[in-house]
Amino acid sequence: MIGRPLSRVEGPLKVTGRATYTYEEWGAGPPLHGFLVEAAIGRGRIAKLDTSRAERAPGVRGVVTHRNAPRQGQPQPDLSPYSRAFPVLTDTEIRCFAQPVALVVADTFEQARDAAGLVEAAYERTEGRFDLAARLDHAYAPSDVQGSTQTDSLVGDFDGAFAAAPIRIDETYTTPYEFSAPMEPQCALAVWHGDAVTVYASTQIVAEAKLRIAATLGLVPAQVRIIARYIGGGFGSKLRVHAETILAVIAARQLRRPVKVMATRQQTFPLAGHRPAAVQRVRLGADRDGRLVAFGHDPILQASFTSDFVEQIGSVGRALYAASHRRSTHRIVPLDLPDPEDVRAPGEAPGLLAIEAAMDELACALDMDPVELRIRNEPAQHPELGIPYSDRHLVECLREGARRFGWERRPRRPATLRDGRWLVGHGMAAAIRPQFQARTSITVRLEPDGTAIVRTDMTDPGTGTYTIATQVASEALGVPIDRVRVEAGDSEFPVSGGSGGSWGATNTCTALLRACHALRDRIFASMPEAERASAGGLPALVAARFPDGVEASGAIPDMSDDPRFTAHSLSSYGAHFAEVRVDVDTGEIRLRRMLGVFDAGRIFNARTARSQLIGGMIWGVSAALHEDGAVDPRTGAFVNRDFAQYLIPVHADIPAIDAILLDTYDPHANELGAKGVGEIGICGAGAAIANAVYNATGVRVRDYPITLEKLLPHLPRP
Ligand code: MOS
Repeated sequence: MIGRPLSRVEGPLKVTGRATYTYEEWGAGPPLHGFLVEAAIGRGRIAKLDTSRAERAPGVRGVVTHRNAPRQGQPQPDLSPYSRAFPVLTDTEIRCFAQPVALVVADTFEQARDAAGLVEAAYERTEGRFDLAARLDHAYAPSDVQGSTQTDSLVGDFDGAFAAAPIRIDETYTTPYEFSAPMEPQCALAVWHGDAVTVYASTQIVAEAKLRIAATLGLVPAQVRIIARYIGGGFGSKLRVHAETILAVIAARQLRRPVKVMATRQQTFPLAGHRPAAVQRVRLGADRDGRLVAFGHDPILQASFTSDFVEQIGSVGRALYAASHRRSTHRIVPLDLPDPEDVRAPGEAPGLLAIEAAMDELACALDMDPVELRIRNEPAQHPELGIPYSDRHLVECLREGARRFGWERRPRRPATLRDGRWLVGHGMAAAIRPQFQARTSITVRLEPDGTAIVRTDMTDPGTGTYTIATQVASEALGVPIDRVRVEAGDSEFPVSGGSGGSWGATNTCTALLRACHALRDRIFASMPEAERASAGGLPALVAARFPDGVEASGAIPDMSDDPRFTAHSLSSYGAHFAEVRVDVDTGEIRLRRMLGVFDAGRIFNARTARSQLIGGMIWGVSAALHEDGAVDPRTGAFVNRDFAQYLIPVHADIPAIDAILLDTYDPHANELGAKGVGEIGICGAGAAIANAVYNATGVRVRDYPITLEKLLPHLPRP
């Protein structure tokens, strides 16, 4: 049962509109609707905020501003960034463009939105610091920042080895601001009952949302209940709740009515975190047979003055290739922009756009097959920590991908294969993403009628949690799929690590397997050995002996308390292959086909895993060719805040694409042998596209995304 390509068990609910997402929750009767009002400057203070016209508008019930917002807790640096207090509307200071300055609450969404336009604000501006490129010489080490974990990693004598290397690549790549932009925007409904609040929240991690709301509002966690049964994607932007949720809770308390706040698509861009733009220097020194002697990766990235978040871009190469002399660092430039946050594959996604393009440049400089270059630099053990890899099949991903893709038929020299106006190119890249684990507990019940009930506060942002938990319980308890009920996304249930960091599936399934084994042991303990082998299995034994059913729980520790995570270097791996065509007259870039081959240990569900991987690969195409969050350097505003202007691929951009999973088992990861699939798909995918564009055209664009105006001036003359 585990591994089978079962369709999503909640699929019928979703396609018939019966899966209740946060916006459709009703709670206790019809809620009021809140609409966020955004600051119109990037730095300064509110000089005047006149809400009187808004308050008199039809249907308006109240306006929350800094004048009437309650005192709130301050962020506690010792707490996780997702559960720290998140005070809103605290004062008149404006720290970034579109910072919420008010919440207008009315009977309908339309009334609230209309009245929000009647709030009159005047500002005193202060000169803002908005432009990363203009402030690179202000960069400093984040290790100077309290709470930061990003320290330099220096091994051997990088400078000496790089200077002495016969073949050197020293290039700088830039990666832009990017946004998670899940299908379902940020949303919350708050319903107070006395001094307790139920928050229907669109969140990836229920327990963190509960702690954050409690810490912000000065409540004890037991006063807060979170319900998040269905979530329309998150990709990092819902690891923590933001102003929409805090303001729903505040407004509902003030107005003594349930309040719902739904961000518009445009509002989500500055509201819910972004991937920081970065300038990444990569230096690779190799000997003439392609063996790396020096590996250097030095990203400079945007940070903010109000957050200690540093995307771990410089960490991605640390476990990837062998080289005796190494350096990888982070330097940050705080700007007056919204706080950067996790966006899918934080670190790896932008980092591999640089490293894997540089590896392609090195292969070209060596006149070597880029697949062979990577195989030649496969490390025997972690090159910086000196610990063994758990189970690593990167070379098999590379070889299997090359075989299936037909890599040996690629154009050996760039800009040599033509098909009419089209220049044709092939590219590839490797992928790595570390395995994480967060403390997770779960309960499972077996009822005398043969039903199994799994309970966890784990969420399902569309990834397949309900389905894979069903599969594990079915197999471990011998219960048919349709007799398993998974109840998730409710803070009344045992605390999990939630969905994020590619850890949700392995956390949930490992804890659940342990719970099922504990349940079996409990059942067996009550009977003589001979009786245990009943033909009907565990359900029959429960029916015969446990009129009230049996329950057991299972748990796994956080990775910081699990010796598995220090004994071995644990990661998922992959290899991407892409064919693109570039119109020699217009510079139009078209993906023709793409293949990813992945090693993520045992797979819980071949269908949902493939879906995640393909989604990640498409995101890689998007990072290479489309996504580009533009900041107006005068105002600090994100300019392209919708899907008309913030480009992402559409169906026509994604023709033949496939993801293959190697059938592996990592005994050091967990007892299921499974590792994460959520983020490995995006890792390296964009670099394969970039390398294919180079192979097609002979033009290397190091400033992502690769758009036609960057390519066109350099294309070979037709
Ligand atoms: Mo992911 S960026 O941890 O949702």
